[in-house]
Amino acid sequence: MKKKRKVTKSVARNAFYAQSGGVSAVINASACGVIETARKHRNRIGNLYAGRNGIVGALTEDLIDTGKESAAAIRALRHTPGGAFGTARYKLKGLDKNRAEYERLIEVFRAHDIGYFFYNGGNDSMDTAHKVSQIGVELGFPITCIGVPKTVDNDLPFTDQCPGFGSVAKYIAVSTLEAALDVASMARTSTKVFVLEVMGRHAGWIAAAAGLAGHRAGDPPHIVLFPEIPFDQAKFLERVKQCVTDYGYCVVVVSEGASYPDGKFLAEAGTKDAFGHTQLGGVGPVVADMVRANLGFKYHWAVADYLQRSARHIASKVDVEQAYAVGKAAVELALKGHDAIMPIIRRRSAKPYRWTIDYVPLAKVANVEKHVPREYITEDGFGITAACRRYLEPLISGEDYPPYRNGLPVYAELRLSPVPRKLSTTFVV
Ligand code: F6P
Repeated sequence: MKKKRKVTKSVARNAFYAQSGGVSAVINASACGVIETARKHRNRIGNLYAGRNGIVGALTEDLIDTGKESAAAIRALRHTPGGAFGTARYKLKGLDKNRAEYERLIEVFRAHDIGYFFYNGGNDSMDTAHKVSQIGVELGFPITCIGVPKTVDNDLPFTDQCPGFGSVAKYIAVSTLEAALDVASMARTSTKVFVLEVMGRHAGWIAAAAGLAGHRAGDPPHIVLFPEIPFDQAKFLERVKQCVTDYGYCVVVVSEGASYPDGKFLAEAGTKDAFGHTQLGGVGPVVADMVRANLGFKYHWAVADYLQRSARHIASKVDVEQAYAVGKAAVELALKGHDAIMPIIRRRSAKPYRWTIDYVPLAKVANVEKHVPREYITEDGFGITAACRRYLEPLISGEDYPPYRNGLPVYAELRLSPVPRKLSTTFVV
């Protein structure tokens, strides 16, 4: 474990917070945890700036002064989906490949006397935070870098869950349950197959969560297609046919990351994002069409897409609490002198679910993906086991409804006041 930095209690430094990657229903709850906690330590953290559009805001010196937001607005972040300050899919390359970007970050941090960097993201972001910590030391401007975990994909290692996942899991479990009732009602004379596509690029955690909808043998979802299990078309179609014979209908949940044995995604859009990840989406209709072409059943398909990761109205209470807790812990750990670490959630007991906050070095987290273990998937590869259910159930527990007005949730409205620029240099991203 890295040595703690010497804590100089009397000097207040500014802090920088940025959101990164795809958002979640609770990433703003982490922002709320960071900001509210920083505000309690004004003798140590002067101003807390946020990056407009994440790290891009730091590179272009486009900072937001969170100090201009009222306490009520910050409190409302806890129940507001999306990324309140804007987020970015912008991967800083390796130090050897694009040193200029890191030097620019340090230039901006130095100009604004930023001593703390809180980076709220997934695997790639933890890698960036780690590198910024290293280059700060190298350039004689040490900066405390703390990763704040977030990803609906739930694929960061060490932490019991990644904040954001519990809520998307709840949305998918509930939607599967409800849509299955719909299909069951119509199956005798109409739709026989319903296909729901869910997110999760390489890890099938979200798909697994759909499995929570069923309790007894024969309950929907009848088939879950995981990225972890190579897709076997013949076996899949056989199972669909069998379900329609046995139950009158078939509910299929497919992960966007489902792929053939050679590793090719079932639905590659042919484009890549800024991280070099293949653009996914559209596996739902691909699978549905497979069913139509080979079995001729009437079908419907749905792509949960952004609905699943923005569904704050049905967020998991546990998830909201954990998202806030990792934000709060990030600030507290930084003030205790920790650097280059990420707070994690540790499961202390399963029933009743008890958890505490711990932390791990960023070096261990960066770019490591946690997949659904084989023992969480049934032997036939189409469902979840009791062990998986035991893991997932606590994560979707409890509701945390936002306030409503005129039938709609009331979400935070921020001023997003810019911090006056100090540099005459510009940086093009
Ligand atoms: O952040 C993870 C994720 O939600 C993945 O599950 C999904 O593949 C991806 O983001 C979508 O990213 P984007 O919104 O940038 O297209």
